[in-house]
Amino acid sequence: MKTKYAVVFICIVALVIIEKESNIISMVSDKLIQRQTPLQTPYTPLDYSNTTQKGSLTVLKMLLSNLSGTKGNLSEEQEGGELEDVGSYSYSGGRKHILLMATTRTGSSFVGEFFNQHRENMFYLFEPLWHVERMLTTATEANNGTALAGIYRDVLQALFLCDFSPLEKYITPPPQDHVTPALFRRESSLSLCEEHVCSPVNKDVVERYHCKTRRCGPLNLTLASESCLSKQHHAVKTVRVRQLETLQPLVEDPRLDVRVIQLVRDPRAILASRMVAFSSKYQTWKAWAQDGQVPEDDEEVKRLKGNCDHIRMSAEVGLSQPRWLRSRYMLVRYEDIARYPMQKAEEMYRFTGIPFSSQAREWILRNTQTTQEASGIYSTQKNSSEQAEKWRFSIPFTLAQVVQRVCGPTMKLFGYRFVENEKTLINKSISLLEDKLFN
Ligand SMILES: *[C@@H]1O[C@H](CO)[C@@H](O)[C@H](O)[C@H]1NC(C)=O
Ligand SMILES: *[C@@H]1O[C@H](CO)[C@@H](O)[C@H](O)[C@H]1NC(C)=O
Ligand SMILES: *[C@@H]1O[C@H](CO)[C@@H](O)[C@H](O)[C@H]1NC(C)=O
Ligand SMILES: *[C@@H]1O[C@H](CO)[C@@H](O)[C@H](O)[C@H]1NC(C)=O
Ligand SMILES: *[C@@H]1O[C@H](CO)[C@@H](O)[C@H](O)[C@H]1NC(C)=O
Repeated sequence: MKTKYAVVFICIVALVIIEKESNIISMVSDKLIQRQTPLQTPYTPLDYSNTTQKGSLTVLKMLLSNLSGTKGNLSEEQEGGELEDVGSYSYSGGRKHILLMATTRTGSSFVGEFFNQHRENMFYLFEPLWHVERMLTTATEANNGTALAGIYRDVLQALFLCDFSPLEKYITPPPQDHVTPALFRRESSLSLCEEHVCSPVNKDVVERYHCKTRRCGPLNLTLASESCLSKQHHAVKTVRVRQLETLQPLVEDPRLDVRVIQLVRDPRAILASRMVAFSSKYQTWKAWAQDGQVPEDDEEVKRLKGNCDHIRMSAEVGLSQPRWLRSRYMLVRYEDIARYPMQKAEEMYRFTGIPFSSQAREWILRNTQTTQEASGIYSTQKNSSEQAEKWRFSIPFTLAQVVQRVCGPTMKLFGYRFVENEKTLINKSISLLEDKLFN
């Protein structure tokens, strides 16, 4: 008998919620019609008719799992957040939009793979903003950080909605009939190399193939967009968004359900890694290391300070949990991923609300436990825990000191220990990492 009553009760609760939600949705869609979005893509409130139902189902499922005591993967904190944010589920139709926000040499390609390798229902893009940056920062007149951040955000917003047209404007040479051979690192996205996104290779032209896994001709962006729409979840990795707060309108877009993962790393390690990866650009640093003198008012040092400050300020915004970002922000340290890749991947998936797929799990197992030699500096196939500490032997102590001086507050926030002398720097039994929980 009791169960019967429980079922009836649940149904009533669900009906009330569905009712309430439809009201909210019509309110919001009314607001949206009035609002001018920066996207050119027109959409109609009718688009919500199907997703509404899906959203209510999600809520119903959550309620059912709460009542029956099977909590699934939700932590208590997340639950609170999600129930509070219930509305956002309705409009995105259960889709999640993950933005992996990083800087270069923080292992973002590797962490991007955690999502790329999900496979089943994931549309992943690797650094789409590369095109925007290349076009706009070479056009000297448009080199304006504020304007650039807005453009990045709008292109990301469109991509999360599977609209490639704003991005197309920045691809050179311009795509012909929405077809381009020039999409940056297409092969890094499994979803852009699937069979139905793969156009036939033109036999008359000696063409290079655009995918590793199969012989694909240039990318038809219409097909890419269709593939995107067919996938439940979307993820974008980017090292080009500098300030988290510039993303506020994107996070607040009711059509999206955005989760931001900020990936950070010890700035001393980043400098050491950049000096190897971008060797010619870092000649000045090498020279300074040799004469032991670093002019702290030099542009290079200022740029380092600027980068550190941006990363720290973004993290401060995220960790302070402003209303617009509540339960949508996660800070992850590269070093923790290197030490506990599987555990961190699970945490990230739990945070996004996307089930951790067996394919992703297998990929992580394969790529963190190999003894295989690194096949290049961009390789993600490395013994990650060993790799994470290598920088301590490659960075000259003088430079580590400079980083500690200009990036001090950033290092403190993330829990990276300072070293006072070279001995400590290269003594592996001394950890430079404080155990820290952020979220
Ligand atoms: C909405 O649902 C109807 C009927 O189930 C279907 O025909 C239509 O294609 C769906 N629209 C969208 C946008 O999914
Ligand atoms: C940069 O762009 C923003 C927004 O378009 C504008 O308000 C600002 O004046 C510009 N700044 C400079 C220095 O051009
Ligand atoms: C790209 O794909 C779309 C959708 O299948 C198709 O209609 C279009 O003709 C293709 N474009 C080219 C240039 O092949
Ligand atoms: C990876 O490196 C760590 C640290 O040096 C070592 O303990 C571990 O055995 C290595 N794992 C493999 C599979 O080589
Ligand atoms: C490294 O640090 C440990 C712990 O502080 C210390 O016992 C050891 O002597 C150090 N090793 C070297 C080579 O300095």
